[in-house]
Amino acid sequence: MATAELAGKHLVLGMTGGIACYKIAELTRLLVKAGATVQVVMTEAATQFITPVTMQALSGRPVYTSQWDARVPNNMAHIDLSREADAIVIAPASTDFLAKLAHGVADDLLTTLCVARECPLLVVPAMNRQMWANPATQRNVAQLRADGVETLGPDSGPQACGEVGDGRMLEPEAVYEAIASFFAPQVLAGRRVLLTAGPTFEPIDPVRGITNRSSGKMGFALARAAQQAGADVHLVAGPVALDTPWGVFREDVQTAQQMHDAVMRAVPDYDIFIAVAAVADWRVDHASDHKIKKTADHRLPSFTFVENPDILAAVARLPHPPFCVGFAAESGDLDVHGEEKRARKNVPLLIGNLGPLTFGRDDNEVVLFEASGHTKLPRADKQALASTLIAEIAKRLPDTSLIS
Ligand code: C5P
Repeated sequence: MATAELAGKHLVLGMTGGIACYKIAELTRLLVKAGATVQVVMTEAATQFITPVTMQALSGRPVYTSQWDARVPNNMAHIDLSREADAIVIAPASTDFLAKLAHGVADDLLTTLCVARECPLLVVPAMNRQMWANPATQRNVAQLRADGVETLGPDSGPQACGEVGDGRMLEPEAVYEAIASFFAPQVLAGRRVLLTAGPTFEPIDPVRGITNRSSGKMGFALARAAQQAGADVHLVAGPVALDTPWGVFREDVQTAQQMHDAVMRAVPDYDIFIAVAAVADWRVDHASDHKIKKTADHRLPSFTFVENPDILAAVARLPHPPFCVGFAAESGDLDVHGEEKRARKNVPLLIGNLGPLTFGRDDNEVVLFEASGHTKLPRADKQALASTLIAEIAKRLPDTSLIS
């Protein structure tokens, strides 16, 4: 999950005392892998849960635990460490630490660093459900939000203490995604994006069907990039083996007709529609409700096909359509077919790729077709390409002030 937004970013990762400290080992690995510099600072309590040696090995940098650290020449670790940072992330953030932050207490290195900071502060709470629900904690969190501190989570579910409820820390992947979103340019802030992704599955009988080789990777990457760019995202997905991007609302469907119905139900609430799905053009008329058996005389089954609805064209035909973006996977002559398809579907933007070369791959090379001409984008990893495409879509949107 390479994220361009995190490459070269300098993060101070502050750890406070809580069992969720073990999850920070994985978070650190994800951040370092994405190209961020991670400077770990631990409170005394955090060192009771995981050692500074582990965190040093994972971050590749010495860990700071004390205000009185002789390694800092001017003895001002609280100033030096925060000045280099693009953001401070406190994970896990304990009840006690949130209370101190809300009151501006500066009695150890990490609290002092937060008070002395000039950069954004993100906190990732992790605590028992009653500690989270406690009115004092809720007051402190409300105060922190009012002070401009970003809160990530908490999650709900089983807790280390054996209880179930709100307060558990977000999983490391979710924290990672939220940090990446924080740094992504918010080009779709306030926008609502509906997408289709993946193949469809058209049944022949209860065990067989017609599908295609779309993996859903490009559509899921776009859903994730749109979410990171600040949009509310609704993803209508055909059958794929992919995790839902963090913060994205996902609706699973099987057939083209189900995808069409889901899109048509949702579309009035959205201002951008991106049709990435490889929708089957035909379905078998009257799929059998029992498994079709081989016959003793080797008679072959025959099927009648009917055309599926064209979802993109149907959305583009609405009286007040959202900004529509189509995709086209072609096996050749992309320049000719791309523009022809864009005009036929009556959409302002169509993204063409050489389908058979891209299905299932992690990278892609695309051409943007629009009325004024076409633009080729360089081959890139699908996630990086998705961020570029979201920026390209954002540039072409009608003025926000026109959107209700
Ligand atoms: O399959 P085709 O090349 O026509 O696909 C072009 C675009 O139309 C894609 O964006 C695809 O998601 C969309 N489409 C659709 N419903 C269909 C067929 C295609 O929304 N039945």
